[in-house]
Order: sequence, then C-alpha cells, then structure tokens
Amino acid sequence: MIPVNSPVLGEKEKSKLIECIETGWISSEGPFVAEFEQKMASRVGKKYGIAVSSGTAALDIAIETLKLAPGDEVIVPSFTIISCIHQILRCGATPIFIDCDINSWNMTVEDVENAITPFTKAIMAVHIYGLPVDMLKLSALAEQHKIPIIEDTSQAIGLNCHSKPCGSFGAISTFSFYPNKHITTGEGGMLLTDCPDLAERAKSLRNLCFQKKQRFVHEELGWNYRMTNLQAALGIAQLEQLDEFIIRKKQIGVFYQTELANLDNLQKPLKKLDYAENIYWVFGLVVNQTNRHSAAEIMEALGQQGIGTRPFFWPLHLQPVLKQFGIQPKNALPNSELIAQNGFYLPSGLSLTDEQVEDVVSIVKKVIQ
Ligand SMILES: Cc1ncc(COP(=O)(O)O)c(C=O)c1O
Repeated sequence: MIPVNSPVLGEKEKSKLIECIETGWISSEGPFVAEFEQKMASRVGKKYGIAVSSGTAALDIAIETLKLAPGDEVIVPSFTIISCIHQILRCGATPIFIDCDINSWNMTVEDVENAITPFTKAIMAVHIYGLPVDMLKLSALAEQHKIPIIEDTSQAIGLNCHSKPCGSFGAISTFSFYPNKHITTGEGGMLLTDCPDLAERAKSLRNLCFQKKQRFVHEELGWNYRMTNLQAALGIAQLEQLDEFIIRKKQIGVFYQTELANLDNLQKPLKKLDYAENIYWVFGLVVNQTNRHSAAEIMEALGQQGIGTRPFFWPLHLQPVLKQFGIQPKNALPNSELIAQNGFYLPSGLSLTDEQVEDVVSIVKKVIQ
C-alpha cells in the first residue's frame, strides 16, 4: 500500500529524542519547548509562540481568547476541519459559514465582507491544501472593521502569501504538527502572536489557568493542552528541514500536475494565485460530475490497487452535530458541497519515493481511463 501520508524522520530527530531521555526532560517543563516556540515564532515573524498538544487545542485556545458569548458571530469557511468551530460552539456563539472559491478551494475576501454584521467578533482564515487565503486583502478588510483574524496555518507551514509567511498575518495564528503536516511533532500544535497579553492568556489557558501566586486557586478554567519536551524535540529537528520538505512537496505536486494534465475529467489544484505559489500540502483532485464514476468509486478502485487516498473535508454547514447547538445554516454553499462530494487527494507524504509517485500516476491513469 502506498500510504496517503507518512512523515520523514531520521537521525536529527533520533538524537534530539535521545537527549530528552538521557537528561530526563520529557514533560512540558523541558527546555526544547521554549526553544521550539522561539524558533517557530522567528521563522514566521511573530513575537511569541505558545506550544500546545494539537492544532485543535491551538484553535480552542485562540477562540477562547476572544471571550465569545451567545449572539456573537465568527466567520468561518465551511470547507475546513471541525476543529475550527469546536470552541465557537461550546461558547454558545455562532459560526457564520461561507463558501470557498471553486478553483482555489479557499474562502474569498468578498464572501467574508458579505458575511460581516455588527455581531462579528472574529474572522477565521484557513489556508487550504497548499494555497493561501488572500491575507493582504483580508487584513485590510479586518482592519477597516476592527475585527481580529485567527489564521489557521495548519496546512500552510512554510507557505508564503504576498511574499510573507502564512501565519504572520493573523492577530493569532495557529498550527498543527500532526504527522501529515509539513513538520510534525507526532501530535502537537502552536499559537503565534505579537500581542504579549494574548500570549500570556494563551499560556495560562493551555496550563489549567494555574495562577502565579496561588497555583491551585483558579479564577477561570483552561485545559491541559501542554506540549511535551519529546514533541518539541521532534519539532526543532523537523523545523531545521522545513525548506527541504517544501521543495520535496512541490516536486511531488508538480510531477502529479504534469503527468495528470491530460485527464480532463479531473480538476487539478491551481498551480499558483496572483499572490502565492502552491506548495501542495496535499494533491487534491475533483472528479468532474459528468465522469462515469464517482470520487468514491475511484477511491475504492485506487485502494484495491494499493493507492491510499482521502476524501475532501465534509462541509461544516452540513455537519449533523450543529443541531445539538441549535444551529441550522440557512444557505446552501454550492462550491464547498460540490468539491466535498467529488474531491479526494492522492498520496502526498514526504516519505514517498520517486518510484512510488510514478506508480501512483500510472495507476491513477489506468483507473481513470
Ligand atoms: C486546517 C486545519 N486546522 C486544524 C487541524 C487540526 O489539527 P490537529 O489534528 O493537530 O488537532 C487540522 C488537521 O488536519 C487542519 O487541517
């Protein structure tokens, strides 16, 4: 089986992990956590890093810093992962879902603008599958309305937008280091911000809101979302290789683009936008509706030939769980629905060999034709 994703781990990671074991620093108190936070912040161009246990944890904390109440709204793309709305829902606030562009699969600034109301408390910008949201345009809009942006950069570590790193635009940006991401800590995540107060609050929320003077007296509730020294050790070793990883991801993406170019019944990812080049976090395909076979059938056939695939996200506005929170989105979001029903992605992991990528291409061609 050629897996849809698997990370590259080597000697650098091994020696950092051995250092943890030899020094006994395995908890979140270990020195690699602060080092990883500082290195990520400086790579992205932010002042403060707060390492946490997952990308979902980073989003929970980012949303909690907004102090949302019932009636408050957060604008969120429908085409993303459920993690983006967990804490919005739990606060009793309302996610306002917007559609994606049919070609870039990212939310558009026009749709954000149309969704702004007097109740909007934040905009969640999520970069999708290797291309970014237009963060310059979005930042100008957000600035005009004085609405903070949470920038979910989980799929865009090392991606540039208008020649600036993704993750450098939001009031808070969040990252996931799950093994399918550009760099991994196994499980893990991070928040970055320039604001010292937000950084302090995020640190407190990740650590059960212990107080400095009276540790076990709590004014509010947080979580144990701490990152361990073992995870941070991996993160530091991985971050050193980020540029190489991006080059490899692009190579795989460009190879798929070239080799699959003639399959007209499949929509391929855009190679670039005016303000960014695709780094192909994953290589997505959308099956043309006139095709004889559905995405599910094609994925099934590829699976039988040993090719791992994943379906696209299921749109958030269609999630059954929304009912539990009394939310029934009124509008259809046709682009998100269309790509969710017809989209899937090919093996895109960093450990793929050239031979495996060639095998994927030849089997995809066979199955599709
Ligand atoms: C855009 C986005 N945000 C958040 C997450 C959640 O990250 P984690 O799996 O580390 O909780 C993911 C995971 O794939 C993601 O793609």
